[in-house]
Amino acid sequence: MAISAPYLPDLESIDPSLDLIEEIHRLRKVRKALILAHYYQEPEIQDLADFVGDSLQLSQQAAKTDAEVIAFCGVHFMAETAKILSPGKKVVIPDMDAGCSLADRCPADQFGEWLKQFPDHEVVSYINCSAGVKALSTIICTSSNAVRVVESIPAHKQIVFAPDRHLGRWVMKQTGRDMALWPGFCIVHEQFTAKRVAAMKVRHPDAKLIAHPECEATVSQMADFVGSTAALLNFVAKDPAKAFIVATEAGILHQMKQRRPDAELIPAPADSGCNCSLCPYMKLNTIEKLYLALRDLRPEITLDEELRRRALVPVERMLALG
Ligand code: 13P
Ligand code: SF4
Repeated sequence: MAISAPYLPDLESIDPSLDLIEEIHRLRKVRKALILAHYYQEPEIQDLADFVGDSLQLSQQAAKTDAEVIAFCGVHFMAETAKILSPGKKVVIPDMDAGCSLADRCPADQFGEWLKQFPDHEVVSYINCSAGVKALSTIICTSSNAVRVVESIPAHKQIVFAPDRHLGRWVMKQTGRDMALWPGFCIVHEQFTAKRVAAMKVRHPDAKLIAHPECEATVSQMADFVGSTAALLNFVAKDPAKAFIVATEAGILHQMKQRRPDAELIPAPADSGCNCSLCPYMKLNTIEKLYLALRDLRPEITLDEELRRRALVPVERMLALG
């Protein structure tokens, strides 16, 4: 049997005289497509999306749309969740290699073996995981509803939480529940260190520190507010402070600037060579690749139907919590 080569966006096939933004607007109508974008996408992608949001909001949009195509500008697990929820729709992603360190470092077969130590536990998995891991889970959560999801589990039940140990620890602190944690982490949020963030606070004494719960506990503990991307955005929009140190992926600053043009928004310094706190996976998506995805309807997310149905159960349990 012939094995087909992996699809790679053919950037050279793009006519250089085209106005890509105009073309994307034309193609979205022709394709009856919904363009979804996560807050960590490039500003130009956020600006032309039908909806920009956090992981929870994006999955809610994917569940309710009547569009024929979903062009998901985010990372693979997000587009895969859209396919889990909307199997009849074509789901395309600008770059199929847009992975996630949390999802990639929690392979379903290894996770299944690890779970054997916890036969009586309920399994709460962060949405940043593969369909295979979702299928092994009792319920899914995102960073915006993780506390509520864990609190929905009866107090006498024991819990396994995967794959983000930092989010898991933060939820343990908020809920007082003990949980067994899979040792995963986000390569972007782990770059924020207490030492560098503390130095930043000294330089900006009036700024409020806000952090995503994927940050290490030493950073979250110093924060004035901890929350999902949508919650951080909301906090900045409403809080009277005039300056904020933002400990999450810097893509969120695009929306923050629009909500608070008067405020100083300071990206928390990352402890990496480039000092830039950008997610290398999220940034694989570009306007050019989005144009190709809408033009060619590729690369497309596909899923084995039996796996999809098993993964759907814990995702629907989460969505049912509201
Ligand atoms: P949100 O749940 O805040 O969208 O963050 C998830 C994330 O890390 C996206 O990469
Ligand atoms: Fe994954 Fe971290 Fe990138 Fe989010 S920011 S997609 S958690 S690697």
